[in-house]
Amino acid sequence: MLSTRTSRVASAVAKKFQQQSVRSMGTAKSFHLESPNNKAETYFDFSEENYVRVNQVLQKYPDNYRQAAMIPLLDLAQRQAGGWLPLAAMDKVAQICHVAPVRVYEVASFYTMFNRTPVGKYFMQVCGTTPCMICGSEEIMQTIQNHLGIKNGETTKDGYFTLLEVECLGACANAPMVQINDDYYECLSKDSMIELLELMKQDKLPEVGKWGSLPMNGQVSCEGPLGKRSLLKPPVPPKVDPERFKAGEVDPASVKTHMAY
Ligand code: FES
Repeated sequence: MLSTRTSRVASAVAKKFQQQSVRSMGTAKSFHLESPNNKAETYFDFSEENYVRVNQVLQKYPDNYRQAAMIPLLDLAQRQAGGWLPLAAMDKVAQICHVAPVRVYEVASFYTMFNRTPVGKYFMQVCGTTPCMICGSEEIMQTIQNHLGIKNGETTKDGYFTLLEVECLGACANAPMVQINDDYYECLSKDSMIELLELMKQDKLPEVGKWGSLPMNGQVSCEGPLGKRSLLKPPVPPKVDPERFKAGEVDPASVKTHMAY
């Protein structure tokens, strides 16, 4: 028979394992949930403006590899639909890519960047992986849950906020962090998270600026608390032969334009 201490340890381990399994699965739904705004008969088509983008994306691939355009087109569809992918939008992408709809469902269900159910106006993805966890991501999750009265995977009744714990988002140097829609807010504390939530309620979320991320403790990008300590001289930009891009290669400086965003 197990001693009381052993069984207490075993139950703590089992609880932790259970928490980790729930965390690693996330609570994003990667399967179809039939609802009035999410069934095959629901209408979806790209807007006129987005059809220009669709054609720009398609032009990058030979006609017999149209399916290569699937991910950028799903991203475009998700943006048009308000941050999620209704079944009808995936069917439209399948039609454009000349593939069976199931091929698109597989891709949309595999990649966590695609949401199969509606999300709030502010979709908050809090990283819960080890570096963020040891720097306080659990407190950040708890702060959001207490402040908004929602749990992991839920959306507020007013449709403003969705909260989801996710795995590493690649900003570990500035842990803990949250991705809000397309932008990263890093070096969070309980207070700065509350500040962000209050700003979102007023639709005054601070711009992330040119770095694509905003550390909330005043530091710049990935600099440490003592400021910049290395790479003090600006890097010399590599010499690039502009003729190179005339042959159809993508100029790295113009990737966003090239991607039709
Ligand atoms: S561990 Fe959180 S961003 Fe990498």
